[in-house]
Amino acid sequence: MPGKLGLHLFYSKDPHIRAYLPSTTVLNRDSFYRLMRRYQSVYIKPNMSHMGKGIMKAWSTDKEYRLVKEKGDVKSFRNLKSTYNSIQKQTSKDLYIVQRAIHLAKIQTRPFDIRVMMMRNSQNEWQYTGMLAKIAGPSSVITNVNRGGGYAIPIENALDTSLRLTHEQQHRTIKDLIALSHRICHRFNRYKYSSQIGIDFGIDQHQKYGLLKSILTIHPMICLTNSKLKRCIKKLKA
Ligand SMILES: Nc1ncnc2c1ncn2[C@@H]1O[C@H](COP(=O)(O)OP(=O)(O)OP(=O)(O)O)[C@@H](O)[C@H]1O
Ligand SMILES: [Mg+2]
Repeated sequence: MPGKLGLHLFYSKDPHIRAYLPSTTVLNRDSFYRLMRRYQSVYIKPNMSHMGKGIMKAWSTDKEYRLVKEKGDVKSFRNLKSTYNSIQKQTSKDLYIVQRAIHLAKIQTRPFDIRVMMMRNSQNEWQYTGMLAKIAGPSSVITNVNRGGGYAIPIENALDTSLRLTHEQQHRTIKDLIALSHRICHRFNRYKYSSQIGIDFGIDQHQKYGLLKSILTIHPMICLTNSKLKRCIKKLKA
């Protein structure tokens, strides 16, 4: 199966990687109700699109249910049924997935995720090239820099500002992310050949450090097409 769901199933077969994948399934009324009741907050994504296009977040508060598409207005609903009816209107034409939302660590009020870049070296082995934090744009539920209106900063700044990690904890988190990225590349080799990939991780805001919960997405080539990220990588290497 292609798309986000296919990749999710493919990675789930490695038990070590599976531990970092949020529960994900095909979107329908039953799965939406089930994940909302269990986690109170979910992401809804078109199976085949990229760069944050069409992504929605739904969550419940004490009084109501809320829904945001990308960085649009917050819509409110009185119950799960009316929330799903609104989602259904926007998703009925294509296959969508529903996924547990990770409560991403934040800088001020904006969530961020982490992009790890991996490339093949001259011996064709995977090599870590750089890492940065991508901060969501104002009131955006996605951290994709272009569509979400956000920006990127060095990873150490993000870990320090948001989670108050010491230098040693930052170092350990970065090391863990690199080790996990190697594992993901190793698995990705069996999916298809690529000379470079970017992997996105989310860090749960309650984790002092570590990577117990992560979002993984693979973007062949994306780091080369995005000039903002390219500048940041240069800075990180300097
Ligand atoms: N489960 C989740 N919990 C918290 N935030 C999420 C979750 N899923 C997605 N997001 C946010 O939405 C953004 C876009 O999601 P995702 O990366 O899955 O889709 P995409 O960028 O459209 O596709 P792809 O990365 O496969 O090209 C993420 O970078 C993250 O900011
Ligand atoms: Mg993505």
